[in-house]
Order: sequence, then C-alpha cells, then structure tokens
Amino acid sequence: MSNDFFNPVTTQTWSNGRHLVRCVKVIEETWDVRTFCFMADQPLMFFFKPGQFVTLELEINGAPVMRSYTISSSPSLPYSFSITIKRVSGGVVSNWLHDNLQAGQELAVHGPVGLFNAIDFPAEKVLLLSGGVGITPVMSMARWFYDTNANVDMVFVHSARSPKDIIYHRELEQMAARVDNFSLHLVCEKHGLGEPWSGYRGYLNQAMLQLMAPDYLQREIFCCGPTPYMAAVKRLLQEQGFDMAHYHEEAFGATPAEVRAEVKELAAEAAEAPPVPMAEQHQVSFISTGKSIHVSPGETVHGAAAKLGLHIPKACGMGICGTCKVLKTGGEVQMEHNGGITDEDLADGYILACCSVPQSDVSIDF
Ligand code: FES
Repeated sequence: MSNDFFNPVTTQTWSNGRHLVRCVKVIEETWDVRTFCFMADQPLMFFFKPGQFVTLELEINGAPVMRSYTISSSPSLPYSFSITIKRVSGGVVSNWLHDNLQAGQELAVHGPVGLFNAIDFPAEKVLLLSGGVGITPVMSMARWFYDTNANVDMVFVHSARSPKDIIYHRELEQMAARVDNFSLHLVCEKHGLGEPWSGYRGYLNQAMLQLMAPDYLQREIFCCGPTPYMAAVKRLLQEQGFDMAHYHEEAFGATPAEVRAEVKELAAEAAEAPPVPMAEQHQVSFISTGKSIHVSPGETVHGAAAKLGLHIPKACGMGICGTCKVLKTGGEVQMEHNGGITDEDLADGYILACCSVPQSDVSIDF
C-alpha cells in the first residue's frame, strides 16, 4: 500500500514525567464516588497502558501532598484521562478532592507508570476482578479491550457493598449487552430495604467464580480491591492450584502505611547503629543547589537529600510511582525499583531517588 494516503500524527503525546493538566469535568458516579476528567491546555494525547496510574501533586492546608490514583479512562480516548475517587471517611486527600477539585482548576500530575497493566501481560482470555473503587484499573482495561474491538474474552467480576455502590453500573451493563466477549457478574455484599437486587449476594467465593467463569484457571487474572479482598482472592486461587504467574494485582494502594513503618524502623536502626567509617561512605552532591553530604551504605539518594533539607518530591517511596525521578550526572547507584521508570529514562541517566543507593560518589542534578 502506498504511504501517500497516510498523514503523520503531529499531536504531542505525554511520557512519564511531570505534567500540568486542567480538570475539565467532574462526574457523579455514585453517592460517594466521583470521576475527575483532565486535559491539557494544548492538544495532547495521554497514552498509557490500561491499569497504570498517575500521582497528583496537591497542596492541602498549605502542605504539599502527593497521592497516586489509577487512571480509570482508556487510552482509546486519548485526548483526556480520568481518575475515579471514592470519598473515604477521614481520608484527607479524597475528601479534599471531592470538596475542592472543580472543572477549570489546574494541577500537576506525575506519570503515567505502573507494572499492573493489560499490555505487558497479553492474553486471549482475561478475568478482571475488582472490589469497590478498585474497579478503576480493570475498568480502564475493559474499556480499552472493548473500544479497540480486541479479540480478548473478558469476564468482569465486580464486588460492591450494595447496588447503589456499583461504580460504572450502566456502562458495564451496556458493554455486556453489546458484545459477546464481555461477560459481567456483580456481587453485592448486601442490599438496602426497597433496593431490588437479583444478582449474587455476599462475598465472592469459589462456587460463584466457578459459575461465572468455569475456565477461570486458564485465564490471565487482574485483581484490584481492598487488601482483605485481594488476600481472599489470592487464597482462593492458590487453593485451586492456579498458576500464580498469571495473577496480577494492584498493590500500591495498600503500601504507604507499611512504607512509613519501614522508614520508622530504619530510622530506629540507624539511631542505634555504630558510626560508619568514612572509607565506607559515599558523597552525594546535588549540583543545582551546590549541597553535598556523605551517606552510609544502604542510604538512598532521597534520604541524602532529605538530610540536607532538600525536598525531592516523593509519593510511594518504593520505586512504583516515578515521582522522585532525578537526573544522575555522575557515579553509580544500585536501584531496586518496581516499574516506576521507563527504559528510555534509564538510558537518559534518570534514577528514582527513593530506591537508589549510591555505590560510589554520586552527583545529582537537583
Ligand atoms: S517516590 Fe515513588 S518511585 Fe520514588
């Protein structure tokens, strides 16, 4: 075929990094869940792998806050992206977003990143399992497969507290009604008085799964939900002898508390540890600010910066979100990340400060 009939696409696309975006629409999904849609001021295509997430850079009560949310829209509609957030009682960030974020406001986001995605684990048959607002990444996957007419057999199983809590209910029903490779199963823990419900009730169990997807042991499984939900799903699958290499879960939502605990432990250990001889320490120099410090073995670049009072933005603290990406201009680090950085960024010399431990004297452009 001649190339004469093709025009190059000239619209810019984003890549993993910091982007200014504008909230353009707020959609009420359920009584306590809202979707926030974002676009750039210039036409920009937001490509990402369905299942990936972004980290919002916010200022709440005068303090900087970073918080990660999976993208709920699909890259098949690339001129905008959206996140879907549930109001959580006592949840400072989710409540702030519900109360304050409106169409017209601009904010910075970091990303997109994430290993939990449908592109890196291609399969002909998938089982999408979600609990509550954990539906967002698997909805992105389902929308992507649906919009692109992908030859993928989907079973979508969503568990909600009650019928009024089912996020994207009508859209899910519509997808299931229109194509035959999308099978939808909804499970409600309970239903209120006068609330009709003829679907599954209680908690997802093996008998239900067997009815919904008799071939579930042969499917690629993507699971996202509250920690107890994912633990129960995992246990169920393991008991049935499922090959867990084909099980993927979105886990970062549950990690901050653990990370905080770990950081505290490390701090306590450090306080008790004997001083490290100078010969074993490495110097970390921050070029733009002209500051430097010696760090002990095991200390991260982010930790070194913090000791100097330098604030490298950080969210997950474990190499997932990519927020702490900085350019390394010299020296060697050992980086144990969890997918928060692309191969291109690595080739360009970037590192994730939160999970990079100097192996020599190191210089950082910060
Ligand atoms: S803070 Fe998330 S990758 Fe470093």
